[in-house]
Amino acid sequence: MKLPVITWTVCVLGLIGLFAWLGTGLVPVAPKTEQGKALIGGDFALIDANGTTRTARDFRGQYMLVYFGFTHCPDICPTSLLLIENAMNSLGPKAEKLTPIFITLDPERDTPEIVGTYVKNFGDRWVGLSGSAEQIRAVADAYKVYYSKAEEKDSALGYVIDHSGFMYLMGPDGAYITHFPHSIAQQTLTEGLNAAIK
Ligand code: NI
Repeated sequence: MKLPVITWTVCVLGLIGLFAWLGTGLVPVAPKTEQGKALIGGDFALIDANGTTRTARDFRGQYMLVYFGFTHCPDICPTSLLLIENAMNSLGPKAEKLTPIFITLDPERDTPEIVGTYVKNFGDRWVGLSGSAEQIRAVADAYKVYYSKAEEKDSALGYVIDHSGFMYLMGPDGAYITHFPHSIAQQTLTEGLNAAIK
């Protein structure tokens, strides 16, 4: 009677193993993650302060830290750019591998020249980009950035741009690595960049 028990055990274990193997094939966890990553970012065509068209491919070989906002932003944008600049100043040689990029969500007011001048207030390494309303919409959609024009008739600004505030870290191959919220602590951002940049 002992042999049949062993045979049954082998059969049951074999079946469990077979289903587990089939299961891994049916639930492709790793490819799903890669697909999710590929959904943020991609190529873009925007205009820099010199009037030159810049694409994401121009930055291959460099990490990019991409932030979207507008130059009239009273608080969150300047705070975020300062956080990034401070983090870069703490990164040592690794900072040379990283290009900080500011993309305006207000192409109506933020010409490429205005954006270019604005970012240089934060540091020499910054690249400021603008473009047509369609170009900005396309890159914002690619990065899953929310933005919306909000009239403020009582304000001297006339309108502001409500927008999400994430810093997107893209790898030297242009692929999305991670993102950081604008509310991140200075040290956490510095450590996050230091860990991600190889
Ligand atoms: Ni802002």
